[in-house]
Amino acid sequence: MSSIIRPVKGTRDFYPELMRKRTWLYDHMRRAAEAYGYQEWEAPIIETLELYAAKSGEELVKEQSFVFEDRGGNEVTLRPELTPSLARLIAQKSRQLPRPIRWWSFGPFWRYERPQKGRLREFFQWNVDCLGTDSLVADAEIAGIAVQMLKNIGFKSDQLVVYVNSRQLMDRKIAELGVTDAEGKGKVLRMIDRIDKMSRDKWHIYGGELGLSSSQINGLEDILANKDLWKEAPELVEFFSILDTLGIRDWFEYNANIVRGLNYYTGVVMEGRDRAGDHRALFGGGRYDNLVADVGGDEVTGVGFAMGDVVIGLIAEEYGLLPETQASSAQVLVTVFDADYMAASLALATELRAGGLTVEVYPDALKLGKQFKYGDRVGIPIGVVLGPDDLAAGKVAVKRFADRTQVSADRADVVETIKNLLDTAA
Ligand code: HAM
Repeated sequence: MSSIIRPVKGTRDFYPELMRKRTWLYDHMRRAAEAYGYQEWEAPIIETLELYAAKSGEELVKEQSFVFEDRGGNEVTLRPELTPSLARLIAQKSRQLPRPIRWWSFGPFWRYERPQKGRLREFFQWNVDCLGTDSLVADAEIAGIAVQMLKNIGFKSDQLVVYVNSRQLMDRKIAELGVTDAEGKGKVLRMIDRIDKMSRDKWHIYGGELGLSSSQINGLEDILANKDLWKEAPELVEFFSILDTLGIRDWFEYNANIVRGLNYYTGVVMEGRDRAGDHRALFGGGRYDNLVADVGGDEVTGVGFAMGDVVIGLIAEEYGLLPETQASSAQVLVTVFDADYMAASLALATELRAGGLTVEVYPDALKLGKQFKYGDRVGIPIGVVLGPDDLAAGKVAVKRFADRTQVSADRADVVETIKNLLDTAA
């Protein structure tokens, strides 16, 4: 026997059960974004590599992108993130779009990462962005939408946290260390990004390898240890104060270690995490005021975040927040009494659907017990039987699986009877 061809490493097969989980997340994401007036949009799945080279960061472009040449010899890539596509769309129409531009999106992305808990090669991301305003109200709104979605799912602020920092603040502090060129700054940001990922000794050695002096490395350590540093940054003081007004301040904390790997951020940056620290980032984002210009457009400032589907799915499961879902979307299983009654069952199913119910018909005249067993297994709450006696008397036998309630309904009232049974189910 030949073996089954394997899927590509780091991808998932969305069997209906997993698909239901994805749809559940999508519904929550849509609801949270629409509650703030955001419009859904989408970009192509493949883009030119050039688009990301503009500002996404070396790791994402050189190490993590699925790059290939198309048949015409052009270098294209499966999109590793959405923000550069967003900047391109805005750049193309920036003068026609009423501002602020509030857009959200949900779709697949690809990064050639080492598959591990919370990180895959193919994943989905929810992007929410607000462009065309410098107001920190927009930064706070973006953060608020992420929190709104987490709250709607059932999370509390003692379980999850959004760490916040400011690129401007870090730029100023890095300059005070005597690092003023873009390359040096990039190295220091990389050091900050790594501080939680290696031991103190290794981190000092790493800094030396990057060309920093030991007094610069010690200075950087002091900067990162200062929990009150945000008070020096007017943008963070204002950001936190707006969060206070919005009543969500308890979800946020200043954290100097959060600088984010993407190069295009220019202001407030944020990252959602589980407080226990057991998982990778839930979401990440920030302000990017030059990206639209960097892809060739006018100056249009923006702020946004993206949440992947993987970590949120893992944490929601861990906290028991995933809803129980039934396998079949049908409310009613129409059984088939015997082969001669198939036509009658099909006609009844059509009637029930016309009455607004979702209906499966069992396709074979198996023993009724077997048909019911199937209905129960796939989570259909109601089964109906149309036997010779029922047919002659203008009746339908209706059964609610959960508590075995059985009713003989008049054919004319059967839709109503079923709806009542569905409404009164425990
Ligand atoms: P990012 O931090 O690269 O930001 O990714 C955002 C989120 O996408 C992560 O926090 C994580 O939930 C998810 N994610 C990223 N890589 C993977 C992976 N390999 N497997 C599973 N999930 C993953 C961005 O992508 C920015 N473009 C976000 C943004 C939008 N900034 C402004 N607007």
